[in-house]
Amino acid sequence: MERVGGLSGAGTAFQELMAEKKKFQAIKGTRDLLPPETELWNRVEQMAREVFGTFGFGEIRPPIFEPTELFARSIGMDTDVVGKEMYTFTDRLRELDWPKWTFSDFKRWIHLVDTFVQEGKIPRFRNEDILDQMRATVASFDRDLNGAPETDDLRELRDLMEQLILGDSLTLRPEATASVCRAYIEHGMHAWPQPVKLYYMGPMFRRERPQKGRYRQFYQIGAEVLETLQPGQGGAKDVPKDATVDAEVIEMVMTFFARLGLEGVQLEINSIGHAAENCRRGYVQKLKVALEKVKEQLGPDSQRRIETNPLRVLDSKLEREQAIIAGLPKIADHLCDDCKQQYAEVKRQLGLRGVKYQENWRLVRGLDYYMRTTFEITARGLGSQNAVCGGGRYDGLVELLGGLPTKGIGFAIGEDRLILSLQHQQPSREVGPRADVMVTSSGEQTWQEAVRVASSLRQQGLVVYMPNPGTRLNKALESANRQKIRIAIIVGESEMAAGKYVVRILRPFEEEGPRDQQIPTNRLLLYGRLAKLRNDLERKVRGLLGENPQSFKGEGLGMILQRLEADKVLPNFFLRTTLKEELRDLVQILNRALHGSYLTEGSEEWALVVGNLVLAELDRTKTPGSEDAGALQ
Ligand code: HAM
Repeated sequence: MERVGGLSGAGTAFQELMAEKKKFQAIKGTRDLLPPETELWNRVEQMAREVFGTFGFGEIRPPIFEPTELFARSIGMDTDVVGKEMYTFTDRLRELDWPKWTFSDFKRWIHLVDTFVQEGKIPRFRNEDILDQMRATVASFDRDLNGAPETDDLRELRDLMEQLILGDSLTLRPEATASVCRAYIEHGMHAWPQPVKLYYMGPMFRRERPQKGRYRQFYQIGAEVLETLQPGQGGAKDVPKDATVDAEVIEMVMTFFARLGLEGVQLEINSIGHAAENCRRGYVQKLKVALEKVKEQLGPDSQRRIETNPLRVLDSKLEREQAIIAGLPKIADHLCDDCKQQYAEVKRQLGLRGVKYQENWRLVRGLDYYMRTTFEITARGLGSQNAVCGGGRYDGLVELLGGLPTKGIGFAIGEDRLILSLQHQQPSREVGPRADVMVTSSGEQTWQEAVRVASSLRQQGLVVYMPNPGTRLNKALESANRQKIRIAIIVGESEMAAGKYVVRILRPFEEEGPRDQQIPTNRLLLYGRLAKLRNDLERKVRGLLGENPQSFKGEGLGMILQRLEADKVLPNFFLRTTLKEELRDLVQILNRALHGSYLTEGSEEWALVVGNLVLAELDRTKTPGSEDAGALQ
């Protein structure tokens, strides 16, 4: 019997493993994203790249783990994220791999660890005490056993070894703002043209209780704007400019949601001032006094927060605390003049961009680095975890991480939640295979040529279905029909000898045209491109009509366009008379091309150019019935 891959060398160990077969499952709070859903993820990400690009953002891809201290310092020790939710591990330095269980090896190893402590490669804290205890244990071997440690001693040594911190403490990133700031400093981005605008997308990790819309590995799409203060910059005179940046960042995320067709989007904004006695610090003192007075009526979490982070009490969702919180002092009444002015300007700037918002004085956000503007966006269909985006301003964070005084504002979208919301508003329809053509051969001799044909069509961007070699032609055609493929290219021996391929149109069309024809081999690529264009156009207009783009009703593209016009679904752009006529010409040419009619070279080129322009224009159009999500096409 053939053995399986790399396990084969394990011999009996492999057989033992096979004997007790074990099934694995994704770890709690993590999940596999599968097709066709991943298609929606890709389209969402593509749209983010497009929209963020138009606002001048470039992509950054920071690593997935960072020093624990980076997050502890940025996000704050008293936050839930740092206090309870981080996946943290010690990255043991390779040189300190466990010793062998021999006496002399232990002694050498303890000495090595000690050297690392002295050289500052691993922390002194805790390690020194443990090393002392280890030395004492090893010394007792010396005395009692002449060098051969006993089992109990070994156990004790092992326990001690496990308590040593033999490397850096690392953490899987719970968010990316801290990483972006670290990278900004590390790469000297203060010297880049300012402000620096970066976006990112990827997985984040928080050990939260999993539920709908809350995962332990989740995905964010985020963006940050960073600007290092130049000499003479800063203070009250920067207020209008900062407010403009805040409003533009919010406008960008709202534009992104609008382009996706996300419905029920609600933006909430607030200002939490800045850390000064005459602003947030003074307010927090007043809040604390007020909270102490009602302490007994609060739940244990809020009681604890009075000491650790009083602002977070405002975040409480506990029903019985709501009335109490409503009576607490409000930060808006305690902002300093600059912060007040900045908040007013942000609202004005949002207004002039047509961005609708609600003010929420309780919006304090769960991370410590924020100051002034904070915002959150909710969407429909998400239950209790309905925040689909959170963000705010964080001037000073870069400095806290060892950089120059720098301003910052950004947001992160919970991509999992965004997808859930899109799926909620437009439940995904069954997505049929999207093959444009089937390519097969009439016999074994021509199979190789069929493979070549498929490969060149794929290079043109066509989705090609190839049945298994040796499948009888009838079976292959049946299978293509089931998959709603319209065009079969069959490589037959005698036709090939005559420099032609057989093309069969698999379903009757409204448009006239022969079912079978032959196309010269040198027209294959042009034929493929025209066929693909026609398929793409049809899918798109079906989507516009609210139909499943994959559906196949035997109705031709021309008829569908007429219905589009009658239903007034066709975007204004196309209703201009000349364009309407061009569109009709286009459909005619594509249909004739599909049925193998010879067209002049000029008209084919014209069809390709105009067709692709039309497609691009339709792409920009809201399509209520696209297969996955609202306006996602
Ligand atoms: P955040 O509010 O902690 O902010 O997270 C932003 C978004 O990530 C949330 O609104 C939510 O949609 C999503 N999210 C958070 N935790 C989970 C989870 N366990 N499962 C699914 N989705 C989740 C930040 O992370 C900041 N770094 C945002 C920022 C960027 N502020 C300034 N710049």
